[in-house]
Amino acid sequence: MTDLRTDGRAALEWAARYLERVGELPVLAQVRPGEIRARLPANAPEEGEPFAAVLQDLDEVLLPGVTHWQHPRYFAYFATSSSEPAILAELLAATLNTVAILWRTSPASTELEGVVLDWTAALLGLPRGWHGHIEDTASTSTLAAIIAAREATGRDLIVCSEQAHSSVDKAARMLGMRLHKVACDRVFRMRADDTARIADEAAVVIATVGTTAATSVDPVPQIADACARCGAWLHVDASYAGAAMVCPEHRWAFEGVDRADSLVVNAHKWMLTPADCSLLWTARPDDFRRAFSLIPDYLRTPDAEDALSLSEYGPALGRRFRALKLWAVLRCHGRRGLQQHIRSGIALAARFEQWVDAEPGWELCAPRCFSVVCFRLQGSDERNSDLLQAVNAGGEIFISHAVLNGRYVLRLAVGQMRTTHEDIRRAWEALRRQAAALAA
Ligand SMILES: Cc1ncc(COP(=O)(O)O)c(C=O)c1O
Repeated sequence: MTDLRTDGRAALEWAARYLERVGELPVLAQVRPGEIRARLPANAPEEGEPFAAVLQDLDEVLLPGVTHWQHPRYFAYFATSSSEPAILAELLAATLNTVAILWRTSPASTELEGVVLDWTAALLGLPRGWHGHIEDTASTSTLAAIIAAREATGRDLIVCSEQAHSSVDKAARMLGMRLHKVACDRVFRMRADDTARIADEAAVVIATVGTTAATSVDPVPQIADACARCGAWLHVDASYAGAAMVCPEHRWAFEGVDRADSLVVNAHKWMLTPADCSLLWTARPDDFRRAFSLIPDYLRTPDAEDALSLSEYGPALGRRFRALKLWAVLRCHGRRGLQQHIRSGIALAARFEQWVDAEPGWELCAPRCFSVVCFRLQGSDERNSDLLQAVNAGGEIFISHAVLNGRYVLRLAVGQMRTTHEDIRRAWEALRRQAAALAA
C-alpha cells in the first residue's frame, strides 16, 4: 500500500535532497550498457511492495545509471532545467489524471492550454491571435506542421537547410515526402537565394532560429519573402532559441517570424519546464484542423464543443495536462525570472567564450548567438574526440560535440538554472587539464 501523505512526504524529501546534492554526483552516468537492467528483477513482484522500496531502489539501483540533466555542470546538447514549480505541477497533473480527448473531458486543461500559449506568445513578442497548443516534442510539432502544410498546398517537397534538425529528415522519411537541403553560408545560415530558387515547388520551408550545432539563425525575412511569392508554408523551428525572445535584446533573431505559418518553441529546452512540453503556434489553425480532425461517432459532441478540442489540431487523441506545469512556471518565475535565467546563461557562455578565445592552442568554431559555445583544440578531430571522451569520463562535466564544416568541434551549452560562474570555471579547468594530460 502506498500512503499519499507519508510516502508523498518521503518522495518530496527525496526530490529536495537530490536537487541539493546533484552537483556532487558525476554528471554522466558511469555505467556500461545493460548494467542497470542486470541489477533489476526479471519480473514484477507478485504482491505489492511498499513505496519505500521503490525509493530505496531509486537510490541504490537506478541513481548510478542516471545522467544528471539537473546538474549545474551539465553542458551537453541543450542543457535544460526542471524548476520547482513545474516539478510540483507534474505531481498535481498526475493526481488529476485528466485526458483531454475532447474539450468536455477536460475543459480546464484545454482552456488553460490556450491561455498559457497566449501568455507565452506575448512574452516572446509574437503576434496576438495565433492558435497555440502543446505537443510532446519538437519532432512531433514539426511533423504536424509539415502535415498541415502538405494538406494546405497539395505539394510534397520539404525544404530546409543542411543545419536543420534531423527531426525534419525523420518527418520526410515517415511521410514519404521529398526533402531538399539548402547549403549554408560561412556562419551556418540557410542561403536565402538558394531557398528562393527551390521554394516554388515546396510544400513547406523550414527555417531554424537557433540550429542544433551552432545555434545559427536563418534569414527568416528573406525566406518568408520566398514563401509568400511561391505559396509555400513557412515553419520556423525555434525549439531552443525561442525562449530567449523573452528578452527584448534577443528579438533580432525573431525578425520575420511574425510571417510564419507555424512556429515551434520547446518550453522543455530553455524555459524551466521539464520534458515534455513543445509549444506549437500557427497562424492557420483551420489548415491544421483540416489535416487532423477525425471524429469517430463515439466522440461526437455538439459542434461548439468540437471546435475547441485540441486533439483536432495534432496527431494525438489523448492529451495530458501539460499546460499545468507551464502555467506554474510562468506564474512562479514571471517574466523577470525567465529573463534572468536566459541572461545568466548567455553571460556565462560569453565568459567561457572569452577564455577559449584568449588561450593559445584553442579556437572558436562558430559565432556565439546565444548560450552555446562551439570550440576545439587546434589539431586533429581525433585529438578533440579523445578530449571529449576523457573529460566526460571524469564525471566533473558533461559536454557534447558537433560537426561543423566537416570538422569535429566541442560544444558547451549553458542552460541549467543551477550553473554558476564557478561551474563554468571548473569546466574550463577540466578541459585544459585533460588537454594537457593527453598532450603529455
Ligand atoms: C533545432 C531543434 N529542433 C528540433 C529538435 C528536436 O527536439 P525534440 O527532442 O523536442 O523532438 C532539437 C533537439 O535538440 C533541436 O535542436
